[in-house]
Amino acid sequence: MLIKIKKRSDAEEYEITPQSLFEQRRRFIKKVGGLSLAAATLSLPPSALAALNINPYSKDVDGDRDELTAYKHITSYNNFYEFNTDKQSPAKLAGSLKTDPWSVTVEGECAKPGVYALEDLAKPHKFEERIYRLRCVEAWSMVVPWIGFPLADLVKQLEPTSRAKYVEFTTLFDPEQMPGQNRNVLDWPYVEGLRMDEAMNPLTMMAVGLYGEVLPNQNGAPLRLVVPWKYGFKSIKSIVKIRFSETQPQTTWNLSGPKEYGFFANVNPEIDHPRWSQARERRLGEYRKRKTQMFNGYAEEVAQLYRGMDLKRNY
Ligand code: MTE
Repeated sequence: MLIKIKKRSDAEEYEITPQSLFEQRRRFIKKVGGLSLAAATLSLPPSALAALNINPYSKDVDGDRDELTAYKHITSYNNFYEFNTDKQSPAKLAGSLKTDPWSVTVEGECAKPGVYALEDLAKPHKFEERIYRLRCVEAWSMVVPWIGFPLADLVKQLEPTSRAKYVEFTTLFDPEQMPGQNRNVLDWPYVEGLRMDEAMNPLTMMAVGLYGEVLPNQNGAPLRLVVPWKYGFKSIKSIVKIRFSETQPQTTWNLSGPKEYGFFANVNPEIDHPRWSQARERRLGEYRKRKTQMFNGYAEEVAQLYRGMDLKRNY
């Protein structure tokens, strides 16, 4: 077996997932392949991870420990409106989503359009583990050890033309598998997008796993975007389409509430959501609130993308 990882979350995984599904996921991550680095990495203790520039115990803005969020919290408190709008339902309902086989359609301004089996899309890339804070617009946050590969590598593989200024992502639309899509809470399918320089930033990743395993369905299996300096709604789940475009994509949350959810959605403690403050956040599994950091703590890596832009207007 390619992945053999012992960790405290094993018990919880079995608790929430039927054995057959669990086995199916493991087979799938083997099929998608390329996980040798992740497998090697994940069997190492935290001290060794630090040597790989992966630091699970960094500090937040007040110098408090910024530990990994427990697997059970990451996988049981979710936003996945395709299943239901409350946080507990996705973990209970997402088992109905069939993630293998899975294909991704690539369209628009690129030299390599087509319909790709997920494994063909993922295989050329070097998988790695990245520990990122994810800050939801609703002021909760978590620290997740994702497994995936840089979106930049995928973009290069698909050879966008010089006209491609944005990348748009679409989630599966299938109300039979995703019962929440029978309700008009959002304009389905869920769509998100990035400016090309955001997509090419080395922090941006396509995730296929977390905590050393294939993504649980409720976290966006089999392929999701992770953009750690933006509010969580940008990190679109269960992607079936990638489109390169000259114009800014019409994104789901921006269409649903343009005054509340901007296209950029960069984490910014100084700009409040019209209905609540964004200055603080609650880490899943904790009661106290922490200060939210500019660009979610990734300003050094990404602030230059927005130089000269009015962040109040471009929220
Ligand atoms: N992607 C899809 N397709 N549907 C969703 O409802 N919710 C978003 C984002 N991606 C969502 C989605 C929001 S609001 C957040 S905060 C994150 O997923 C939550 O990711 P998590 O459940 O893995 O914590």
